[in-house]
Amino acid sequence: MKYLNIICKRLTALLSAVLRRFLRLVSSAEEDDASIMQQRIELYRGRGMKIGENCYISDVTFGQDGKDPIIVGNNCVLTKCIILGHDASPALYIRELQGKGLFDRISISRTTEIKDDCFVGVNAIIMGGVTVGPRSIVGAGSVVTRDVPSGVVVTGNPARVICTIEAYIEKHRRQMQGHPEWYPGLKLKHPDNHA
Ligand SMILES: CC(C)(COP(=O)(O)OP(=O)(O)OC[C@H]1O[C@@H](n2cnc3c(N)ncnc32)[C@H](O)[C@@H]1OP(=O)(O)O)[C@@H](O)C(=O)NCCC(=O)NCCS
Repeated sequence: MKYLNIICKRLTALLSAVLRRFLRLVSSAEEDDASIMQQRIELYRGRGMKIGENCYISDVTFGQDGKDPIIVGNNCVLTKCIILGHDASPALYIRELQGKGLFDRISISRTTEIKDDCFVGVNAIIMGGVTVGPRSIVGAGSVVTRDVPSGVVVTGNPARVICTIEAYIEKHRRQMQGHPEWYPGLKLKHPDNHA
């Protein structure tokens, strides 16, 4: 019995050491990701783009070289999408837009703006000159060719409004009650909890 107790204690100590090490590894990986993303944001800012605070920007392609006139507001989540600020296609055909070399061509350059609190889904393309209004969602794979109003969800190619953000939130709140298992980590304190 005495030996069994000793073995149990040693096993518990070993397991908690392994767990501590694992947690340290996971948390440092998250810190690394956050710092890489912050460095990337500073790089974009250094190239003249305006990017607000508290933005999650993951592997986004901004134009071709990051010099396009692009403004991103505060609290935005941009997943792996493409945000254009220019269009070089006319220069291939119009002599007045051509320079001496390939890199001297004149592109159409129009400010593209993502206002505060927007979410842009994976593989979405925001065309040059478009403004996405505050608190709007651009669905995965959408091609946004025209301005998006504030507080809506748009999807498709070309992107069209499918609902308001209020209807979207309401739908997800109902879903959180009906299928809490779809939201890992969610703790509903009360059936009416809307947190
Ligand atoms: C746009 C979005 C927010 C809509 O969410 P939702 O309201 O829960 O969507 P639903 O599944 O109820 O679909 C509603 C309708 O829009 C359509 N739809 C949804 N997402 C779409 C998309 N990305 N493109 C085209 N149509 C889409 C659905 O087919 C459905 O059409 P129907 O009513 O004719 O059947 C969501 O589909 C989306 O694209 N989220 C972004 C996901 C992403 O990129 N994540 C990155 C990693 S975090």
